[in-house]
Amino acid sequence: MRRHLLSAAEVSRDDALLILDTARELSQLADRPIRKLPTLRGRTVVSLFCEVSPDSARTRISFEAAAKRLSADVISYSAGGTGGAREERRESLRDTALTLEALGADAVVVRHGAAGAPHRLAGWMTGSVVNAGDGEHEHPTQALADACTIRHRLGRVDGLRVAIVGDVLHSPVARSGAWLLRTLGAEVTLVAPPPLLAGAVAGAVPGAVPGWPCEVSDDLDAALPKADVVMMLPRREPAPGHSRGYVLDAGRLAALQEHAIVLHPGPVNRGTELTAGVADSPRSAIAEQVSNGVSVRMAVLYLLLGGSEERP
Ligand code: CP
Repeated sequence: MRRHLLSAAEVSRDDALLILDTARELSQLADRPIRKLPTLRGRTVVSLFCEVSPDSARTRISFEAAAKRLSADVISYSAGGTGGAREERRESLRDTALTLEALGADAVVVRHGAAGAPHRLAGWMTGSVVNAGDGEHEHPTQALADACTIRHRLGRVDGLRVAIVGDVLHSPVARSGAWLLRTLGAEVTLVAPPPLLAGAVAGAVPGAVPGWPCEVSDDLDAALPKADVVMMLPRREPAPGHSRGYVLDAGRLAALQEHAIVLHPGPVNRGTELTAGVADSPRSAIAEQVSNGVSVRMAVLYLLLGGSEERP
């Protein structure tokens, strides 16, 4: 394992499988009466969430639950709302890094509105940095949670066809998902209205790498029957060209293969990306994505801080 987890594009197949296998073992903890291991006792994990939207809570609570289940000391640097307290006082990221070093942070889990902020932080920290979402750039642990869920439901990722549908232009989940699932051997297709596809594929997204490892299509109805996994993305307003033509409803659910599953990273906007009936159907693995999210984040913290003998 590397010292940091900054980008799904940088995760090797071996490391991805190590994280997923470790997550599978750690997930068994959820069935025990006491859901806690002493592995990271005495280690400090800082949760630094700045410049995030008010409804952005899932990743923070998932990481905090993961760190606590491994007995780490968790310090939350989040002030809620649209900006962390230090950001509002305009403290530079460099000064925040100095503060976190002085606090003795062994790991910093960072969500930031700016693409590349976790990479900059990693350059100043002696501890590990985990990217919990940097603007519209990457969200590697969501991609790991999604891969974990696909493996659990369908037994493998290798050779599967995954359609990532919706606002791909603004989605760090789409970018990290495309990279990680491709690394694990899936065939990924981005499905979106032409204006969103054109922006994403041209690399117009801030921090974009040129060229995604995937196919593109603007025809959802053509993509669905071929897909083993359909990942719907949260829709931002306004999303150019996004319309009912890209909503997963009961009719479209019926067009899926019998084994195919539906994912959504949240927040779910029922009736906007998918109907309530689809979100609640047996095909939906949305709740499993949340619980698997805790397991993969436990695995990441465990491997970065306690479980790997081969840190560079
Ligand atoms: N899935 C996800 O990243 O949700 P949050 O923005 O609420 O963390």
